[in-house]
Amino acid sequence: MYYPDELVEEIRSRNDIVDIVSGYVKLQKKGSSYFGLCPFHNEKTPSFSVSPDKQMYYCFGCGAGGNVFTFLMEYENYTFSEALRVLADRAGVELPRQDVSREAREQADLKSAILDINKQAANYFYYQLKQPGGRRGYEYLTGRKLSDETIRRFGLGFANKTGDDLYRYFKGKGYDDRILKETGLFSISEKGAWDKFWNRVMFPIMDVNSRVIGFGGRVMGEGEPKYLNSPETRVFDKSRNLYGLNYARTSREKYFLVCEGYMDVIAMHQAGFTNAVASLGTAFTTQQAALLKRYVNQVVLTYDSDGAGVRAALRAIPILKEVGISCRVLNMRPYKDPDEFIKNLGADEFRKRIGEARNSFLFEIDVIKSGYEMEDPEQKTGFYNAVAKKLLEFPEPLERDNYIQAVSREYFINYDDLKRLVNRMAGQVGFGGPAGGAQRYRESSGKEKKERENGARQSQKLLLTWLIEDPSLFDKIQGIVTPEDFREELYHEVASMVFAAHEQGGVNPAQILSHFINDDEQYKEVAALFHAGLGDSLSAEERRKAFAETVIKVRKNSLDEASRTASDIGQLQEIIKARSALKTLHISFD
Ligand code: UTP
Ligand code: MN
Repeated sequence: MYYPDELVEEIRSRNDIVDIVSGYVKLQKKGSSYFGLCPFHNEKTPSFSVSPDKQMYYCFGCGAGGNVFTFLMEYENYTFSEALRVLADRAGVELPRQDVSREAREQADLKSAILDINKQAANYFYYQLKQPGGRRGYEYLTGRKLSDETIRRFGLGFANKTGDDLYRYFKGKGYDDRILKETGLFSISEKGAWDKFWNRVMFPIMDVNSRVIGFGGRVMGEGEPKYLNSPETRVFDKSRNLYGLNYARTSREKYFLVCEGYMDVIAMHQAGFTNAVASLGTAFTTQQAALLKRYVNQVVLTYDSDGAGVRAALRAIPILKEVGISCRVLNMRPYKDPDEFIKNLGADEFRKRIGEARNSFLFEIDVIKSGYEMEDPEQKTGFYNAVAKKLLEFPEPLERDNYIQAVSREYFINYDDLKRLVNRMAGQVGFGGPAGGAQRYRESSGKEKKERENGARQSQKLLLTWLIEDPSLFDKIQGIVTPEDFREELYHEVASMVFAAHEQGGVNPAQILSHFINDDEQYKEVAALFHAGLGDSLSAEERRKAFAETVIKVRKNSLDEASRTASDIGQLQEIIKARSALKTLHISFD
């Protein structure tokens, strides 16, 4: 969807960042900035800053940063257009209808229409549950020990026995088949129209902002399928949502409990564990892990204790690890799932099990061990080898050694023997042992190239930050560095804008950031540019020297790249001349 830059800028400038963020985070003024607890990661001391001058926020803890648009996008899970619309509304700016393509407008309208119908359907199911016709459903839920308060909080309901009850309800309200079809609540064909859910207890599935995006319906008692779920729709993406997250995100715990089932989440919340979430009947995904990472750095897996639950846990662990969430696994035995456990042993016992939850690596080793017959010497050796191989997953020697210690302690394996085994295996697979010599060489030459590239990137980034922080430096680089010298594509784009803005009288960070809003990675990196610290501890002389070196590095790298791609001798001669000029360059500070 396209909105003109001027409009985006008007909306942005009419919404003060401090006002917006204050609506969500308690802020305190400190010098020229405001500080508070970061809403994007869990912390006890405030490292989240909001700058009224820059009209930006930045977290020194987790690196989250941006302007009013990105704040709402991150916090409320809005798309850019949604954030824009909310902020336009707030500032009383009218969004021109014609600037939105017809197709895009229809898509946005469709999305909100589906959400609206879902909400009405949830209300309808909830109402039916308390009607005489819904009695069986209500008894089923109370039979499973759910309180009225829990039923209300999770909006549980009942879909009547009649096969087109809900359909007629919406037809009575004048809804068109075309839109009803899109909700996934009905099957509509020439042969007729039917409700997808009937004679089931209903679980509305809400997104992180408590909007109803889909439903799960359970048979009361035995029957197949046990749960029927809404199909994926314009608003329901199973891989990007988690059941219960709308409540869990406001719990004050620094970890989440991740389980498999709707009933497990509800039972845990009812028992006071309001930090429980579940995936939506599919395997745990990377997107879900990233979603969790916004709120916590730790997870306790409370998967079913059966074989399927263990396999699901083994699959989830590396996914969580990948996004930087550390994870432990709760032992539910002798019960099958959190719901059963809590019903039988109570909340206190469950809390105890959370405290005892097993480090995920040791859990993985436990599972490996169960595949070996430890009485048999040959199998025992097999187990040791498997353990050693698994330990190679830690690339950091220090961390690896910590785990070698833990494993040798836990499984009564001699530490020195295990370490030797691990090192020998490292050699065999090219992790740097004697046999891995050739491989190591290749790795390090690749590494050098990468370091060189990083160095060039780093100095471009640094120079941009200098210029943004201290615009008087523009004078010093006049005639030496231009935006073209920023060879890294993203920095080149930012540099072009920063240089142009400087010419026109001043750099406006939050405005520049708006240009990168469609790309998560990019706006985060650009936001960081505007907030990087510049070594306040340096003396004036040291700063001067560092700045001069950075300027020369950027220019030199630019010339090196130019010579690599030069197409004729004339160009090359220019480059050679520029290179030698660089050697005698003096950047004056007076
Ligand atoms: P479970 O079978 O463990 O269900 O499936 P549960 O939530 O513990 O429910 P109860 O306690 O038996 O009533 C875990 C999750 O897998 C999905 C659902 O999301 C369920 O919550 N599932 C399961 C389905 O989508 N369809 C099914 O037929 C079964
Ligand atoms: Mn279950």
